[in-house]
Amino acid sequence: MNYSQRVFCGELSQEDVGRTVQLCGWVDAYRDHGGLLFIHLRDRSGIVQIVFSPDVTPANVCQTAATLRPEYCITVTGTARKRMEGMENPNIETGKLEVFVDGMTILSESDPLPFVITDKAMVAGGETAGAENVSEDLRMQYRYLDIRRPAMQNNLLLRHRIFQGVRQFLDSRGFVEVETPVLTASTPEGARDYLVPSRVHPQNFYALPQSPQLFKQLLMIGGLERYFQLARCFRDEDLRPNRQPEFTQLDIEASFIDEEFLYELIEELTVKMFAVGGIELKRPFARMSYAEAMDTTGSDRPDLRFGLRFVDVTDAFKSTNYSIFRQILQRGGCIKGINIKGQSEKLSKNVLQNEYAKEIAPSFGAKGMTWMRAENGKLESNIVQFFSEAELDELKRRFDVHDGDVLIMVADPSYSIVTSALGQLRLHLADRLGLIPENSFYPVWITEFPLFEPTDEGGVTSSHHPFTAPDRTDFDPKNIEELLSLKSRAYDLVMNGEELGGGSIRINNRDLQRKIFAALGLTEEDMKEKFGFFLRAFDFGAPPHGGLALGMDRTVSMILQTASIREVIAFPKNRSAACPLTGAPSAVKREQLAELGLLNLGEKDVLPGEAHKENLLDRVSWVSRLGIAEAERPVMEEILAQSETLAAQVHDLAGAEEPIRSVAPAAGKTRPGAEAIRSPLAETGQLLKSAPAVKGNYFKVANIIE
Ligand code: AMO
Repeated sequence: MNYSQRVFCGELSQEDVGRTVQLCGWVDAYRDHGGLLFIHLRDRSGIVQIVFSPDVTPANVCQTAATLRPEYCITVTGTARKRMEGMENPNIETGKLEVFVDGMTILSESDPLPFVITDKAMVAGGETAGAENVSEDLRMQYRYLDIRRPAMQNNLLLRHRIFQGVRQFLDSRGFVEVETPVLTASTPEGARDYLVPSRVHPQNFYALPQSPQLFKQLLMIGGLERYFQLARCFRDEDLRPNRQPEFTQLDIEASFIDEEFLYELIEELTVKMFAVGGIELKRPFARMSYAEAMDTTGSDRPDLRFGLRFVDVTDAFKSTNYSIFRQILQRGGCIKGINIKGQSEKLSKNVLQNEYAKEIAPSFGAKGMTWMRAENGKLESNIVQFFSEAELDELKRRFDVHDGDVLIMVADPSYSIVTSALGQLRLHLADRLGLIPENSFYPVWITEFPLFEPTDEGGVTSSHHPFTAPDRTDFDPKNIEELLSLKSRAYDLVMNGEELGGGSIRINNRDLQRKIFAALGLTEEDMKEKFGFFLRAFDFGAPPHGGLALGMDRTVSMILQTASIREVIAFPKNRSAACPLTGAPSAVKREQLAELGLLNLGEKDVLPGEAHKENLLDRVSWVSRLGIAEAERPVMEEILAQSETLAAQVHDLAGAEEPIRSVAPAAGKTRPGAEAIRSPLAETGQLLKSAPAVKGNYFKVANIIE
């Protein structure tokens, strides 16, 4: 078959009328008008209608055409004609034309489809099927069919455009694209590594990079000065909606620069990327310190598309008689609130008390929530009588209260409970009240992060990573309190409540780098073992340098406004980090393990993964997608043991069937026996006694993230 004369379906125009053309593509949809067959032929560029008419098309071709079904791959030759008046189809770009076929070859047949691909009606005003309601796992299993859908094609095409734009822009600024290894040693970014066993070095492993961090810094020490890479990164971490086990970063590093250089560069680049999606971003981007972000929104990735900022009113209640507030303040706590302006109609007393104060705020970790509504110049609520006039006046002043406003306040001895609960309430209310303007984008740089965070074991861990420069260098690496007061020269680029990227100015002094490792609790031995090669490089004139990485899947997803980052990745993993298309990850043969020297790892003749699966706690952690820290294990193990005992007791008491222990799907299991037996423990209420929260006869469980 010769394709040299092929033209693209979507590119046919009025100028082609009268021309003989060869088209290739897939049968998108067909209409059979008894002898006259209309087909939407689709290729990457679009759709054109082709017509098999006994007047023009040879009889044998008409016969074969009658066997065509959706997604058959065909090539046709024919003549482009203008459609008859009134027969145009505005649903497709080429809707004023059609091609009368005189020859056809079926290149490849298709089985019946697992889901509908076509989304263009064949006639004006006609219904379209669409693939919206198809399960995502099915779409992923047949991703090659999913990718035939114009929406997916468009996503991948625009992703490509954005990537090309990035390359051109950075090239014009003197940045050099360099590939760094994928088979490497561990890079610390806070997640678990994916390990790859080496056959040549039995029982030794490469780690897949969590980011090219160490290599890009080595490139700076190597004198490359300006580097970038569209780098694949791998992180074995708990999955969240906008995380993938493998994802793409735009990784950037430059020497002899400061924060301002990077802000300038990344702002210009971000504006260009968003312009590909027709979105205009205003520069300069806003900046906000970490402390201000936490104080006013309760989040280090604040969504600034709407107001609802927190107001601190702790000192307005210094000498309050309201005992709940007084006790909290005596314990060093704080009180913050939000004025939800002009929303009292939508937030009735009932909604505020029974939904927000009793249910929603506690589900966000607050022990309680105080609310007030402004009516006739006064603040009203179920507890205003406990406050003095002066306190109420002060609230009106601080929150700039007008009639129709609603105040909510959260008080707690812990600053982080107040900010976290109020932060979640802020997002919940904005969503419920429709306060988030559509098609708005609010980029902000978050700066002055704390350098360290406390660990459960009483030490510190890096908030970003251990190569980030501190704001000062004269600290004592053993003084935990002092370490926790240090700020870093890190910055995150946040948009609409999402962290698009992050980076920092790095340490380039070997003694300071050692001091940071020491603060993190690494001994000289550990440093040598983990980062010896890296620290050695600092002995040879490391230049001042810094950089950043943008999560490109998140960025493209935001530009294209897709429901998840999986929509802009050709072959993503599903929500349990598996690939429904290839079946990865999958078991391997014993021979393969033997070849890699993995059969006799450690003391016992078991694989490390096997032990993991056997452990009930790991299994619960895995199935629930909730990571369990080392320090939490003893308590969780105790709780699991207790629930095992409880289950056994229930079983004995109720004389029921063997309890189903598996947390894996147990749906559809029916128990033998005529009638359901209600456990005596349920009758007496004992069964629900230890539940953290109960509604009717049900345990309440935490919200599921996605
Ligand atoms: P960081 O760990 O903040 O920094 O990652 C940078 C950006 O990568 C994106 N990202 C992810 N995207 C999808 N799925 C994931 N699992 C995932 N994890 C991270 C986020 C994030 O902002 N080496 C440093 C950068 C530097 O200091 O220069 C780093 O990797 O958008």
